[in-house]
Amino acid sequence: MPMAIAQKMLQFMEKSSWIRKMFEEGARLKQLHGAENVFDFSLGNPNVPPPDAVQKKLVEIVSRCQPGMHAYMPNAGLAEVRCAVSDHLSREHCVSLCSDNIVATCGAAGALNIIFKALLDPGDEVLVPSPYFVEYAFYADNHGGILRTVPTRADFGLDLDGLDAAMGPRTKVVLINSPNNPTGQIYDDRSLRELGNLLVRKSGQYGRPIYLVSDEPYRKIVYDRHVVPCPFDFYPNTLIATSYSKELSLPGERIGFVAVHPQASDLNALLGALSLANRILGFVNAPALMQYLVAELQGLTVDVSIYQRKRDRLVKGLRDAGYELLVPPGAFYLFPRSPLPDDVEFVRLLQEENILTVPGSGFGGPGHFRIAYCVDDATIEGAMPGFARAVKRARSQG
Ligand SMILES: Cc1ncc(COP(=O)(O)O)c(C=O)c1O
Repeated sequence: MPMAIAQKMLQFMEKSSWIRKMFEEGARLKQLHGAENVFDFSLGNPNVPPPDAVQKKLVEIVSRCQPGMHAYMPNAGLAEVRCAVSDHLSREHCVSLCSDNIVATCGAAGALNIIFKALLDPGDEVLVPSPYFVEYAFYADNHGGILRTVPTRADFGLDLDGLDAAMGPRTKVVLINSPNNPTGQIYDDRSLRELGNLLVRKSGQYGRPIYLVSDEPYRKIVYDRHVVPCPFDFYPNTLIATSYSKELSLPGERIGFVAVHPQASDLNALLGALSLANRILGFVNAPALMQYLVAELQGLTVDVSIYQRKRDRLVKGLRDAGYELLVPPGAFYLFPRSPLPDDVEFVRLLQEENILTVPGSGFGGPGHFRIAYCVDDATIEGAMPGFARAVKRARSQG
């Protein structure tokens, strides 16, 4: 009998996940060689623990036993979390927000899905600078949208001319991610200002707003005093999608939010659509306990210096071994140039050293590979000799 699973899902499963392939390969290698001899850099799963205050606050909240604390609530979330987030954002950025501008979500993934549900008509295009987070294509497709990529410059900064040329009458959303997964790059004030100007011009030209969606779960994971500019400062039709997955190391708890610029076009309809999308996509609302938690922990961040030490150790070790890479100012990924022209082949070579990484091709960034360094120090130290052997072998092949 033919399979009754949706054809599209079968295709997605086939081509979707380098990360999943690496996960399976990792399990096989670990069984063969022992977990301590396999160096897994494939997943962006934070290994720095949540701050102590998270556990303490969680225990305190659970023991309050308030009536109704586990009940249904407005789809946009609890009043106190929306207030706490809008107050915090208003202090951090130059734009003054109120609680109505915030919708609590199931992580950044939930945030992006309700945004696309609220904005996209079938065939609408979402433009994204590449390399990019692979799930975006699935999220756009979930809501009838089409993801179009525009390569970034050699330093992974925005290519404004490329974006200008790619925008057309079907462009509904420009989606940016800074600090970026997989490159770690941060888009600076100047490029965001130029992007804002471009979006004003193009919205005028096509007679409908093009929304800027800024996916920023790594905003607080930055090094060397880098600051991530706020896109709200440059363009009013902006929505921020984010989460506490990385800044509080809570990815399994599925908590985040959307913040909408108070001067966005059709603001009330947009906020209503986001709320309804939360409900009808089946999220209903963000997890209640987590909402209470983050309402009381605004501004708290994991100890980023731990990631910085890992980044610095890897950057030095890899450069000494002969790899070419930029020092990423944020997130917890390195995106070195592949020593072989075919990044998939080089990632296989690393696998022979029991090192698991992800080919850049999987992120729309061929010729590179991604190292997620949110791993323990023993993994980094243990992998160094293998990284050095692999680049040597690649050079001797080339
Ligand atoms: C760029 C980017 N956006 C969104 C997400 C999804 O985040 P969350 O787990 O908060 O849904 C991730 C997760 O790794 C990510 O890297």
